[in-house]
Amino acid sequence: MSVYRGLLPKPRTVIISLAVVALVPALAGGVSASDSSTDETALQATRGAASQGIERRVNDLLSRMTLQEKLEQIQLLSDGQVTDADAQAGVGGVFSLTDPAKINHLQHVAVEQSRLHIPILFAYDTIHGYRTVFPIPLATAGSFDPQVAFDDARFGARETAAVGIKQVYSPMVDVSHEPRWGRIAEGGGEDPYLGSVMAAARVKGDQGSDYSARDKVAASVKHLAAYGQPEGGRDYNTTDMSEQRLRNLYLPPFKAAVDAGADTAMCSFNAINGVPGCANPETETQILKHEWGFDGFIESDYTAVAELRACPPKNPDMPPCGHGVAADGPSAGALALNAGTDMEMVSTNIRDFGPQLLAQGRISINRVNDAVRRILRVKFRAGLFEHPYVDVSQADSAQLRPDAVAAARADAARAMVLLKNTDSVLPLDPAKKTAVIGPLANDQHDMLGPWWGQGRDADAVTLYDGIKAQSPGATYAQACPVVNAEPPAATNNDVCGSTAGFAAAVATANAADQVVLALGENREMSGEAASRSTLDLPGYQQQLIDAIKATGKPFAVVLFNGRPLTLGAVAQSSPAILEAWFPGVQAGNAVADVLFGKVNPGGKLPVSFPQVLGQVPIYYNHEPTGRPCDVTQKYTSRYRDLPTCSPLYEFGFGLSYTSFSVTNLRLDRTSVSPNGRVRASVDVTNTGSRRGDEVVQLYLHDPVASISQPVRRLRGFERVTLDPGAKRTITFTVDKKDFGFYDNRGSFVVEPGEIDLYAGNSSAATLTASFNVS
Ligand code: BGC
Repeated sequence: MSVYRGLLPKPRTVIISLAVVALVPALAGGVSASDSSTDETALQATRGAASQGIERRVNDLLSRMTLQEKLEQIQLLSDGQVTDADAQAGVGGVFSLTDPAKINHLQHVAVEQSRLHIPILFAYDTIHGYRTVFPIPLATAGSFDPQVAFDDARFGARETAAVGIKQVYSPMVDVSHEPRWGRIAEGGGEDPYLGSVMAAARVKGDQGSDYSARDKVAASVKHLAAYGQPEGGRDYNTTDMSEQRLRNLYLPPFKAAVDAGADTAMCSFNAINGVPGCANPETETQILKHEWGFDGFIESDYTAVAELRACPPKNPDMPPCGHGVAADGPSAGALALNAGTDMEMVSTNIRDFGPQLLAQGRISINRVNDAVRRILRVKFRAGLFEHPYVDVSQADSAQLRPDAVAAARADAARAMVLLKNTDSVLPLDPAKKTAVIGPLANDQHDMLGPWWGQGRDADAVTLYDGIKAQSPGATYAQACPVVNAEPPAATNNDVCGSTAGFAAAVATANAADQVVLALGENREMSGEAASRSTLDLPGYQQQLIDAIKATGKPFAVVLFNGRPLTLGAVAQSSPAILEAWFPGVQAGNAVADVLFGKVNPGGKLPVSFPQVLGQVPIYYNHEPTGRPCDVTQKYTSRYRDLPTCSPLYEFGFGLSYTSFSVTNLRLDRTSVSPNGRVRASVDVTNTGSRRGDEVVQLYLHDPVASISQPVRRLRGFERVTLDPGAKRTITFTVDKKDFGFYDNRGSFVVEPGEIDLYAGNSSAATLTASFNVS
């Protein structure tokens, strides 16, 4: 939520194609092709048949609108701003209003009292669930299972639509190499391919094949673009980036979302190369609308249009202000509209200054019409003209239904990553006496994570309750408190800021057979405006681990957090670590399922965990250097005070209660034309004694290219479940969309030469094979 919310009253190169190279990976596993709501053909057919009729209706309506009515459609107001008068005037959208009776009331005013009876599009940030809160999106990405993202979005859409909201500001697809940035919790991690798979699954879950269905909503992919790479990890900060990085790293999940049908998008707060996201004709118009053929609308982020202006003394009536690319409100409105922003959130520059801008020739009526056409098109596709009202009597019963709650539990467990398990401390025996200790051990509030939607603390299952349900003799000691403070009161001691309870916690541990230590961050430490300058466990949590270790009891650390943490000391002192992220409403049950072995953990890290903060940014898909890191040599790309080149836990890493081998990487050919494809097969075997999941991963490297290529790029994965001794062959197909790349002119190129593939169960995979593109 925005900080301003309360302040406003308101070479040998074959160029394949610049335009439509599909970067969307097929949905890996999970989401069945027979599920009608995910069926591509159904999506195309619906669009095709309906679109002509819709275009006629859009044009007819547009031809009858006055300029003022058009400008009202371009306006998006918050729940705190909107009045009946706005609805009467024909406001385009309203967000964050969640009371179905109030939604119906405003809709009645708009439909019955506005001159052209155009319904309002209501929107909300359903990021990982509406009332049934699922694990944070970063966790979901770690499931390496698109079905998990699909479930989250599907149930979130059902609950959101039930109160009369028809648009969600999701999926958030910002690729990020910045663990300090609090919003890394909201996206799919550091990899564009994984992020693309998750983005597509979320859009399909939100929209289905036709989002006029009563349980579907329009998805808004955000934040365009490269908002995930703010300098210093500070939210909203600027970004400077090459064209090739923008296109290869940050844009693919947006493309995947658009190809999956996302009909709306949100432009970002940050600037790229000095150009703010909501004033950027390249990303908004050239790429999204022209190259990708996006015919829906782009809304600005919260006051992002006003933030184009210069700060005081130039504009004394601020905030918001900031980027300094517009002298005043009219200029900000013109800049945003001309760049491609179709709807202005919270600030009102386009609406208020539109007539004057038009008279001065600073905006064109064609562009105004285009923006309004896009907004109306989405409203028609959403079925709002046919069904503007919600059935208020059904709104409550649609929430927290058993199928959604069961999915939240299963999906949270599926997302967890086992980072360490020396001597098979896990799974624990529920028949033994379990002490549940730690600041987050009996905590409901923090389990929901940032962007909890309409989730309520009281709905959340604490870890202690989840463990007690499976190990009835369990005991509990908090050891140290959690303070849920916001800046400026917030400190790094908000979790475990005192050792006063340690003695009692040690006594509780001594009286038990085994200990579960619930540690991590509070939920306020992640999400928007929640960057951290350290990645350590806050407060005295490391000392708590040491105190529990001194008891000699077997113990496992369970981590609740929204970002990669520096876990070097934790890993040294703890025999077992389970990364549970912020698991959502079923947190305690899901963690207990994993701790006691009902679920064998199979998640993998969607982002690298550094050894120390000074390594940030550290990510697996980095470009090579002329002096690759080598800790035995001085003149290499290394830290003189760090005896390693690696993160503590790499992207794609995660353990299981069983073991797997990935062997026998083979290709169906060793030479391929630029338009051909290569099949790579690999065998995965469960070599342990428990049924479990492995995520088989395929990486690609182009060792000689006109611009340096990342040392590895994920290009395929599949999560499989295998019984002990069972073996499966997984086959991946790679083609030009995998071995090609965007250059710094924005052209997609496929260059002849060798391509190396790596297969295994993390980004450190060692199996390798090569083929030639010629
Ligand atoms: C956030 C967006 C969000 C919007 C509306 C902004 O502050 O950056 O992600 O969708 O608020 O709540």
